[in-house]
Amino acid sequence: MKIAVVGTGYVGLVTGTCFAETGNTVTCIDIDQNKVNKLKSGKVTIYEPGLEQLFERNIKQERLSFTTKLSEGIKDAKVIFLALPTPPGEDGAADLKYVLKVADDLGPLLEDYTVIVDESTVPVGTADKVRQRIAAKAKVEFDVVSNPEFLREGVAVDDFMKPERVVIGTTSTKARKLMETLYAPYVRQGNPLVFMDERSAELTKYAANSFLATKISFMNEIANLCELVGADVDAVRKGIGTDSRIGKRFLFPGIGYGGSCFPKDVQALAKSAADAQYEFKILKAVMDVNTTQKTKLIDRIKKYFGGSLKGKTIAVWGLSFKPHTDDIREAPALYNIEEFLKEGAIVKAHDPEAMENVKQLFDSKISYFDSAYDAAEGADAIFIATEWPEFRTPDFEKLTSLVKARVIFDGRNVYELDVMKEQGFTYFSIGREV
Ligand code: UGA
Repeated sequence: MKIAVVGTGYVGLVTGTCFAETGNTVTCIDIDQNKVNKLKSGKVTIYEPGLEQLFERNIKQERLSFTTKLSEGIKDAKVIFLALPTPPGEDGAADLKYVLKVADDLGPLLEDYTVIVDESTVPVGTADKVRQRIAAKAKVEFDVVSNPEFLREGVAVDDFMKPERVVIGTTSTKARKLMETLYAPYVRQGNPLVFMDERSAELTKYAANSFLATKISFMNEIANLCELVGADVDAVRKGIGTDSRIGKRFLFPGIGYGGSCFPKDVQALAKSAADAQYEFKILKAVMDVNTTQKTKLIDRIKKYFGGSLKGKTIAVWGLSFKPHTDDIREAPALYNIEEFLKEGAIVKAHDPEAMENVKQLFDSKISYFDSAYDAAEGADAIFIATEWPEFRTPDFEKLTSLVKARVIFDGRNVYELDVMKEQGFTYFSIGREV
């Protein structure tokens, strides 16, 4: 099948590449000329495990191509995916300007029956809006489908190739058939294609992300309480996670959730509710907890250093919002670095993938190191913001010889308490003995 994907960010590029992998011919379209040039020259623009190999193979097989021209990219496409950004506007509502602009442009370009698929996370009612915009200028029949993605950065290729489920919102039989054919190779193991109406599909995505964010914030509050009453959050986590009604996943406390999805989606759902005259009280609490949680360790660090961080050297390990990605959007590390700098500390940073992105933000205000050990050299304390696997079993002897003092503030509970004691480190983490 001939497919077009409009928007070539984290979602669009993974989608395009993975659809090409099962034999479709895919053109990815982006307005960013630099990005398209880079992709055309065979370079992947993001770090996503497993993507490069698929990308290279499908370019070689001429199933995957790139362009900045919408008219050229959508020519003969039976299905057009919209994987465009929906950033939060000033009031927290998702800003649909990119999606609606493309809808306006698409109308006159359609030459035959086409299915236009909203893949971005969009408020309820967006499919209707997109339909109206296209209909205003289209001369042919078309359908608009809501097909929210559930790709996790860091495992997005796997999530796409073997989805737990695919949610498809459409009331058109013709569109449904086409989507069934398109997704058949990805659900061969029997994972369901869940069909519903467009509005329910749109809400499903927000409900899923907001539920997960709620789970994390709930656990972060349990962790905070653990510290006050002398309980251990690891034990509590295992205790409740083994209840199949609760489940083991997404119960890890830390310095808050980040990324391009949870923060904006929780905010957007709360705003949608408010627009519908409904106060979604839980979501307000989820956002409040997360804001406080992000810089939760700062007070403890200041207290440890007698009230001031002036002139202290802090090694920050991990900058991305979670491991296995170079994405730093809403990363808790950034908020903490800002605080460190405000307090007059010197920051030495290391991240396996995200340093280039952080350089664009902090430039020479902090220094960057290719290894965690180099960042730790001469440090008064190590601060762990992201649980990259390489931080889990460092050579503690080597580390001890490099740091000025054996102190770790761990925002992701990477180490066992007894290991830290054995190694002679002063260790602060989340929801455990302090
Ligand atoms: C999330 C969802 O998991 C995807 O299903 C969804 O498609 C995607 O958003 C999206 O809307 O596009 P992602 O943002 O890549 O995916 O990251 P997650 O792995 O879900 O992690 C989100 C945040 O929660 C991270 O900052 C992570 O560190 C934090 N987290 C996660 C915790 O603090 N504790 C946990 O137990 C789990």
